[in-house]
Amino acid sequence: MKPFNQNFKLGVLGGGQLGRMLIQAGIDFNIPFAVLDPDPNAPCSSLAEFHCGKLTDYDTVMKFGETCDVITIEIENVNTSALKTLVRQGKKVYPQPSIIELIQDKRTQKTFYQEHKIPTADFVLTKNREDVMQYKKILPAVNKLGREGYDGRGVQILRSEADLVKAFDSPGLLEKLIPFEKEIAIIVARNEKGEVTSYPAVEMIFHPVQNLVEYLFAPAQLSPAIFQLAESIARKVIDTLEMIGILAVEMFVTKEGEVLVNEIAPRPHNSGHQTIEANVTSQYEQHLRAILNLPLGDTKLIQPSAMVNLLGEPGHSGVARYEGFEEVIRIPGVHVHLYGKQFTKPFRKMGHVTIVDSDLVSLKNKATFVKQTLKVIT
Ligand SMILES: Nc1ncnc2c1ncn2[C@@H]1O[C@H](COP(=O)(O)OP(=O)(O)O)[C@@H](O)[C@H]1O
Ligand SMILES: [Mg+2]
Repeated sequence: MKPFNQNFKLGVLGGGQLGRMLIQAGIDFNIPFAVLDPDPNAPCSSLAEFHCGKLTDYDTVMKFGETCDVITIEIENVNTSALKTLVRQGKKVYPQPSIIELIQDKRTQKTFYQEHKIPTADFVLTKNREDVMQYKKILPAVNKLGREGYDGRGVQILRSEADLVKAFDSPGLLEKLIPFEKEIAIIVARNEKGEVTSYPAVEMIFHPVQNLVEYLFAPAQLSPAIFQLAESIARKVIDTLEMIGILAVEMFVTKEGEVLVNEIAPRPHNSGHQTIEANVTSQYEQHLRAILNLPLGDTKLIQPSAMVNLLGEPGHSGVARYEGFEEVIRIPGVHVHLYGKQFTKPFRKMGHVTIVDSDLVSLKNKATFVKQTLKVIT
């Protein structure tokens, strides 16, 4: 058995909340971190060796990467040319730069699923608005920007011909609107040896009226057959990519029992926050294990959980305060994570709350209480 050599530096591109929770997990393994982020006050800025600079700039990423031994990301919008050069120079970069590049554009992502027979909603690639206009037959459809859309920006539903004038006027795609029954996510991990683990599927619960994701629930309430099918698809995606690190696979489950891949993210993911409290190994620790070629950890669920994103309250912009904090942390099973962002603005991700409870009714009630009680205000 070789000893665990800690004489290296792990560089993270991006210093947001995902990086912050990665550092939190890395402390247990005594891993030395360096972080690059354009915001001098990023959530990671005071927690690791911090470099301030642009993630999309070749020279900045090169200069940062040269000081590190292993490099990973917590956001996909990074300069992959620099990462490729760093690989040629002998640095380990996980996930691999070519995979980051594939995922940066929804068009190449969807084409990849199609080429490898990974089930996904039918689609066509589109160059501009005029191009979208000719696909009346696909409606109702979802129009997506190829690049740089996230958290719902860059995605719009085109229901009827009258909506076509709204189509994005940049390269993107048009895909069939899937009247899905559930939206789920599975996080899989793979190390250099090719070992793969997967976390139980989680489910996004939508608000019945506002149609916004209310909270996330783990494990997803699915039949054993669908549970297994979804897991085998998620594993197929990471195996086909031969990716190293963790990969979140977002999927739709239809009434007919079909499972379709929506999109993937090669990094810790919003749908895996609850693994910190609810699973034996958190997604963050699993990512570290995967990219450092350590044995992968036990993904077992200890208790059912719910996760609520803590977003900036509409109408409040300025220095953040947390109303209802004591009321919610008093409840058994409630764990609050604040991301260390000084300023709040409407809908900014300021933190999240994990709730664990073996009783599913009580779990949902607590999640609803948390959502109604804890507010980010100024
Ligand atoms: N083909 C589709 N049919 C129905 N709903 C969709 C479809 N594609 C996306 N959506 C909805 O839009 C949301 C955002 O789309 P997604 O491609 O995941 O973009 P983002 O990068 O913003 O997360 C999804 O979580 C899902 O609720
Ligand atoms: Mg998404």
